[in-house]
Amino acid sequence: MHSAVEVIRAKRDGGELSDSQIDWVVAAFTRGEVADEQMSALAMAIVWRGMTRRETARWTAAMIASGQRLDFRDLPRPTVDKHSTGGVGDKITLPLAPLVAACGAAVPQLSGRGLGHTGGTLDKLEAIAGWQADIPVARMREILTDPAAGAVVCAAGADLAPADKRLYALRDVTGTVESIPLIASSIMSKKIAEGTAALVLDVKVGRGAFLKELSQARELATAMVELGTDAGVRTVALLTAMDTPLGCTAGNALEVAESLDVLSGGGPADVVELTLTLAREMLAQAGIDGIDPADALADGRAMDHWRAMISAQGGDPDAQLPCARHAETLRAPATGVLTRLDAMDIGVAAWRLGAGRARQGDPVQLGAGIEMHLKPGDSVTAGQPLLTLHTDTAEVLPAVLESLGSAFTIGAADTEAPAQPLVLGRITA
Ligand code: URA
Repeated sequence: MHSAVEVIRAKRDGGELSDSQIDWVVAAFTRGEVADEQMSALAMAIVWRGMTRRETARWTAAMIASGQRLDFRDLPRPTVDKHSTGGVGDKITLPLAPLVAACGAAVPQLSGRGLGHTGGTLDKLEAIAGWQADIPVARMREILTDPAAGAVVCAAGADLAPADKRLYALRDVTGTVESIPLIASSIMSKKIAEGTAALVLDVKVGRGAFLKELSQARELATAMVELGTDAGVRTVALLTAMDTPLGCTAGNALEVAESLDVLSGGGPADVVELTLTLAREMLAQAGIDGIDPADALADGRAMDHWRAMISAQGGDPDAQLPCARHAETLRAPATGVLTRLDAMDIGVAAWRLGAGRARQGDPVQLGAGIEMHLKPGDSVTAGQPLLTLHTDTAEVLPAVLESLGSAFTIGAADTEAPAQPLVLGRITA
C-alpha cells in the first residue's frame, strides 16, 4: 500500500517511480483518494524531475485503465486517426477524415474543443446546423462501418481516460502543463483509449504553436511515437510549421467554408498540401496502398464522404453557415511584399473576436474570426484588403484592429520572402 506523500517525495528527490506506485497514485486520484493539491505537487515534481520511458508508458497505461478503452478491431476496414497538437487555422481534420475514409480506411476521431488561441475541431463542426458532437459508441461503430461515411469526429465520453481529464484541468491552473512526459501521456492516453490501430501525429512548431522550438517538438513527437508503439498502435509523427496560420481563415464557420473549398478540389495550397501529406501517411499506416488521395479529392469522393459523415451526426451539409453580425477590413499600409503574418497574433485576435474561449465551457461565436486575403510571399499594394475581421461583438473591433498592426510585415517590392517548408521532420519508432 502506498501513500501520496511517499510518491511525491520519491519524485521530488529525483527517484524513478515503480509500476505499483504509478498504478496506485493514478487510480487513487481517479477515485478521489489522492487530493488535488497532492496530485498538483506530484505534477510539479514531474515537471522538474521528468519521467523515464518506462515511467511514462506506465503512467499512460494507468490513465487509460482509469476509464473505458474502445475496441474497433472487428471493423471490416483498418482504423487510423490523426492528432494535431494545435495550430492557428488548423482545420485539416475536416477535409482529411472524409478523404481517408474515401480511400478505404475507417477514421475514429475523438476530438476536443478549443481553449485559448487555437481552435477546436468540435467547435468548427458545430457551425454546421444540427451537427452533434456527442454520440454513443454504438452509433460511432455504425457510422464507421457504413461504407458511405466511414469517419466519425466526436467528443470523447466522460469515461475515456477520466484521470487525464482531472489531471489536465489541474495542470492548467498550477503551471504544470509544460512537461514532455505529462503532455505525451495526456495526448496518447486518449488516442490509445480511442481504439485506433494506427495514428499519425501532426506536431506543430513555431510562433502559433504550443511548442516554439524544433528541438522541443522533436522530443515530444519522439515520446508520443514511443508510447503509441509500445501500446501496439502503429504511430508516426510529422513536425510541421506553424509560424504563419494555415490557409486563409481562422474561426469556426470560416474554417468549415474553407474546408468545403478543399473538398471541392480548390482551397489554399498549404491546406491542400498538408491534407494530402497526412492522408498519405495515414493510408501507409493503415496498410492501404495503390490509392492516391489526390484523386479522391479531385473526383468528389471525399466530398461524398463528408456529406455522409456530417448527415450521420445530424448535420445538414447544405445548411448555410453562420455569419457574424459585423465585419471590418484592415488594409495594407504600404506597397511591397508581405513577408510575415504572425500565427500567434492572428490566433489571439480571432479568439478576442469571439471565435475561441477563455475558460472551458464558455460559448464561442460560430461566425467570428479572421479572413486573410494575402499569404507571406504575396505582393501587396497600399490600400489593398489584408485581413477581414468578423464578430458579433462590434465593441471589440477597435482594440483587435489595433493589436493586428504588428501582426504582419510588408517588405520592399523586391524582397524575397523566405519559403518555409511545411513539413520540418518525420519521426518513426
Ligand atoms: N493537450 C492535451 O491533451 N494534453 C496536454 O497535456 C497538452 C495538450
